[in-house]
Amino acid sequence: MTDNVNKGQIEFWNSDHGNAWARYGEIIDIMFAEITDAVLDAAEITVGDKVLDLGCGNGGTTLAIAGKVTNIGSVTGIDISAPMLERAQEGADQSGLSNVTFLLGDASIYPFAERSFDAMVSRLGAMFFEHPENTFRRMASALNYGGRIALGVWRGPRENMWAMAPVSAAKEFLKMPPRPGPEDPGPFSFADPERVRGILGGAGLSDIKLNPLDFQIPLGRTLEEALNFVVEMGPLSIPFATATGESRRRAVDAVIRVLEENSNDDGIVLLAGACWIITARTP
Ligand SMILES: C[S@@+](CC[C@H](N)C(=O)[O-])C[C@H]1O[C@@H](n2cnc3c(N)ncnc32)[C@H](O)[C@@H]1O
Repeated sequence: MTDNVNKGQIEFWNSDHGNAWARYGEIIDIMFAEITDAVLDAAEITVGDKVLDLGCGNGGTTLAIAGKVTNIGSVTGIDISAPMLERAQEGADQSGLSNVTFLLGDASIYPFAERSFDAMVSRLGAMFFEHPENTFRRMASALNYGGRIALGVWRGPRENMWAMAPVSAAKEFLKMPPRPGPEDPGPFSFADPERVRGILGGAGLSDIKLNPLDFQIPLGRTLEEALNFVVEMGPLSIPFATATGESRRRAVDAVIRVLEENSNDDGIVLLAGACWIITARTP
């Protein structure tokens, strides 16, 4: 991996935050199951396809693709996070699937062979590049002619209450990091359709479409699980990592209140999630 491009993201996803994502792999796949289904459908994944899973993380989507393409096809997952890829490899070993490869590397500079994939997908992994247009230009050259791209990305923070309801409740008690600019690498950097069209169009892709996906995200099967998720994984994970004493206690109480307000009769915490399912093709 390089020491200058996407350096901040490489550090972040290999820190305690990456370790937390690796630990929560199973819960993440439950939370984001609707995005997985929507992305795989949009990419029209079928038997025999060769597929690239961009920012594959713990490999949940990669293994789902491996089952769909069968042994006639194959899937490659690439990610910069060593702890998450370790978990992904364990999952592949346990599944017995032989058509899966995981690569540790920065997708924006990885030397993929030209025209080596039929489709490229990503569940929530496309928004973290410093130079997205360059990245997608390289991705496009790794796709066959007429190759399909399908990306699940977040729409704006105001529509994503799973992230923002806990932030609104607890931010007054925590030392929040500076808010990233709308085009800085981060979860909401593909929220603006015009920006997305500019990036993908600038990379030479065509038939660019953005379809909304709205769903309720189960933040945890119990209040405790949901609280752990908010403290270790969501946008509050950075301020919670350094919060101590009375301010931490008040922030935790504020988060618990908002989670209780959004628990259903079975105790499952459900909050709104809002994505774009983006599709595009190589000409
Ligand atoms: C929000 S997580 C999503 C992970 C996984 N796709 C999922 O849905 O569970 C974003 C992922 O993108 C990866 N990522 C960020 N920048 C990357 C890059 N330049 N190349 C490859 N992966 C990257 C991170 O390491 C992380 O695993």
